[in-house]
Amino acid sequence: MANDQEKEAAARASLRFIKDGQVVGLGTGSTAAHFIRLLGEQVRNGLRIRGIPTSVRSKELALSLGIPLATLDECQEIAVTVDGADEVDPQLRLIKGGGGALLREKIVASATRQLVIVADATKRVPVLGKFPLPVEVIQFAQTLVAKRIASLGAEVRLRTENGKPYVTDENNHILDCHFGEIPDADGLARQLSDMPGVVEHGLFIGMASTVLFARGSEIVELHR
Ligand code: 5RP
Repeated sequence: MANDQEKEAAARASLRFIKDGQVVGLGTGSTAAHFIRLLGEQVRNGLRIRGIPTSVRSKELALSLGIPLATLDECQEIAVTVDGADEVDPQLRLIKGGGGALLREKIVASATRQLVIVADATKRVPVLGKFPLPVEVIQFAQTLVAKRIASLGAEVRLRTENGKPYVTDENNHILDCHFGEIPDADGLARQLSDMPGVVEHGLFIGMASTVLFARGSEIVELHR
């Protein structure tokens, strides 16, 4: 699949940001999984790093590859995190959470000096919002929060898996909010953060320092 080859190419290009001795944030999703596999190869070849995973899935993958892990309790300063994204705008603002891991991803990103985003070129957009914005909510408040977000102009759907609500690693639910276009991402991020019952939202603003997009064999590198 061409798209998957691009994801792998972007992940491979991020390896040069990883240096011996660093603590490295391990993202979640299919592109981040390529990165973790490639990092596993480097570890087998002698690279000494410790990884902090952003999901149970990424933790299991890293452990299966023999990547040494650390927890946020042990280490609160992460040199580099490599993660994927669902959309990236020209200011390197992101929508994340398509894979359901936005809460831990944002916490790890907030403790990271250099957040490197790896993606295929389809993720590059002029305006955020075509991809439904994931919002992680406390189960108790999900209907109230869904109505409040709908009043902001979104079509809101509770994410499901096998006919049941999708449950995150932190035991919350996710509302997928279809805005179509988000003309004021900064303003929407503030509104969502202020909403009781919202645990975290998938707008990552001012966090990504580098984005690596792969288109065919070409890598486009953007910096903030
Ligand atoms: C998980 C994420 C992913 O990074 C995002 O959904 C991109 O996934 P993929 O690399 O599979 O396209 O935010 O919560």
